[in-house]
Amino acid sequence: MNTEIFKLLPNESNNPSIKKAAEILCGGGLVAFPTETVYGLGGDATNPSAAKNIYKAKGRPSDNPLIIHIADPADAELYAYTSETYYKLAAAFMPGPLTVILPKKDTVPIEVTGGLDTVAVRCPSHPIARALIRKAGVAIAAPSANLSGSPSPTSGEHVIRDLNGRIEVIIDGGECDIGLESTIIKLDGERATLLRPGAITADALSCICKKVDIAPAVTESLKENERPLSPGMKYRHYAPKAPLILLDGDEEEVLSYMYRRQNAERCVIICYDEELEYLRNERIISIGARDDLNMQAHSLFSALRLADELDGEVVYAHLPSKEGVGLALYNRLIRAAAHTVLEV
Ligand code: TXA
Ligand code: MG
Repeated sequence: MNTEIFKLLPNESNNPSIKKAAEILCGGGLVAFPTETVYGLGGDATNPSAAKNIYKAKGRPSDNPLIIHIADPADAELYAYTSETYYKLAAAFMPGPLTVILPKKDTVPIEVTGGLDTVAVRCPSHPIARALIRKAGVAIAAPSANLSGSPSPTSGEHVIRDLNGRIEVIIDGGECDIGLESTIIKLDGERATLLRPGAITADALSCICKKVDIAPAVTESLKENERPLSPGMKYRHYAPKAPLILLDGDEEEVLSYMYRRQNAERCVIICYDEELEYLRNERIISIGARDDLNMQAHSLFSALRLADELDGEVVYAHLPSKEGVGLALYNRLIRAAAHTVLEV
């Protein structure tokens, strides 16, 4: 398939190529588009065959449900049974990086929800994403626009590398601001369960919800035969080609371990800006300053892609703290490392 690539600046939401992409979507085609979190691989959320094609293009199991993207929080009414808490959350965090699981209406085919009677709803803030949804006039079902098994794409380049030739259109809108996927919660009245941590933290959610429980699978591995609250939790997530080992310990100990290992084998080290002056080989990648969790979130997936390209024998990274946005970094890294943590 010949993939059309439209290169746009984030503020070019009136560009005619968005209308063209929307028409292709409405005709059952697939369009990758930027959001503030990561790129999405979109199809018409009411069209079962578009959903099937999304799974095919990604190489993803079809029981792992898709998030539907809407242009305004109130559009959720068309696809799901909302609640007072949903609207309180919407007033506080939407448009933005929050996904809410709600009971689904019949407008959403089960091909989109992987057979579940609930649907994940998200209203992204990226101007191109919102313009595309508005022009399409329908919700857009979209998983992250990576091939199954590689890290979520945070730039147009990542998407082109993974999906060129597999879908109709790629809208390249440059780098995503946040860089980690949205926070996902499930509501039970005024209580929320956090299924996937993201830029909207558990503390921020506690300002609106009476109680916020963190699903055990966010930090732990699933036990044998355990049924996950979110089907995505059970799949083995992106793992670098070389084993990834997370280092736990105080700052100096971890840096000194990295320093000692850097030349011992062909190892890739994912570190902080402050450590760069001590680490000298060609396989050192910094993801930002030690205390700048937002920058680390922004850079993490690029760093993991780069780690693969550098073709090391082993990859080391810091075990992040579980505080604030740290929990989202922890969740992505612990899964990429298959829970391998070394105390130093
Ligand atoms: O930031 C994001 O959320 C990005 C952008 C493109 O919006 N999308 C994204 O989609 O990360 P995806 O498909 O890679 O991850 C969606 C996760 C999966 O783990 C899936 O299992 C879960 O959401 N999910 C979707 N529908 C669900 C439902 N009804 N119940 C429980 N979990 C659900
Ligand atoms: Mg994904």
